[in-house]
Amino acid sequence: MPFPRFYSRRKFLATAASLMAGLPLLPRLKAGGAPTLQKRGQTPAVVVSSANGLKAVKVTYRLMSKGTDTLEAVISGVNLVESDPNDRSVGYGGLPNEEGVVELDSAVMHGPTHRAGAVAALRNIRKPSRVAQLVLETTDHVLLVGAGALKFAKANGIREEELLTESSRKAWLKWKRNLSRGDDWLSDDEEDRGIARHVGRPTGTIHCAALNSDGDISCVTTTSGLAYKIPGRVGDSPIIGAGLPVDNAIGSCGSTGRGEANLQNLCSFAAVELMGTGMSPEEAGIAVLRRVASHTTQSRLLDEKGRPNFGLMFYLIAKDGRYAGVSMWGPDKYSVATRKGSRHEEMVYLYTRGS
Ligand code: GLY
Repeated sequence: MPFPRFYSRRKFLATAASLMAGLPLLPRLKAGGAPTLQKRGQTPAVVVSSANGLKAVKVTYRLMSKGTDTLEAVISGVNLVESDPNDRSVGYGGLPNEEGVVELDSAVMHGPTHRAGAVAALRNIRKPSRVAQLVLETTDHVLLVGAGALKFAKANGIREEELLTESSRKAWLKWKRNLSRGDDWLSDDEEDRGIARHVGRPTGTIHCAALNSDGDISCVTTTSGLAYKIPGRVGDSPIIGAGLPVDNAIGSCGSTGRGEANLQNLCSFAAVELMGTGMSPEEAGIAVLRRVASHTTQSRLLDEKGRPNFGLMFYLIAKDGRYAGVSMWGPDKYSVATRKGSRHEEMVYLYTRGS
């Protein structure tokens, strides 16, 4: 992988200078965009995921190699992580909202049919990505939320269960006991409004995207969202264009990290559009991170040097098999599977931690 390092300002300026002042969504060069199209069966297959998705990419790649459709393959991959009580960012064992209830968001998208399904603020269901898949496959809708999403899941025979594990409950209680100025309610006091409330509160998530040898792409994003959030808070993960999109003729992008920043900029949609104008996955990812940085102005979201004080990561695949993981802060890693096996690779990043 190229660029396992800080992305140079010069390179960025050469490819994306116009984006600093805002992101023009340029017309595609032609249907299919910049990636070179390969014959069916000849695309170099690849699966990418967040760092917590190493097992997911392995399973996804294996399934895909046996001919499983890309959507079923990525969902099967993330189901492992949704069920893992030790991963506190998603599904069973995810960190709860401020009232101690685990609330989940997920979206899935199938490139070949350009269909999507999503659920948000879903309680008591271990694998929200399976419910999102049912929305895609069995309804004329794209997004179901809250009580309606739960009713839909139960109508489909999915069992409700308590998702709060002992360890997540203890983490929540500790946060609650120490609660002072670190919740999401902004007071009228100017000084208080300047305090970073999100720091130290995970927004961990898993995204997984797969490109098969026929050039078909699907992806999924699933999360328990920001730890200790206001009940009903929905992040970027279930929003098509933020947590993910796929354009089967161009590529895909998915996100983890601070959902609010992604929602305000619809980065994943923008990144896919940019790949369609000829940018590489790295360039497109870095361009949208620059855009987020330029739009971040509130003091509670900035460090002492005026840089965003939150994490935001993107995982990108182009139709021709190029791929990248990009991060606001690095060094950091993401998960990749190709015919050479599964592994962690270095992300490209804008800012160096501790610098
Ligand atoms: N990116 C996950 C969230 O903010 O909910």
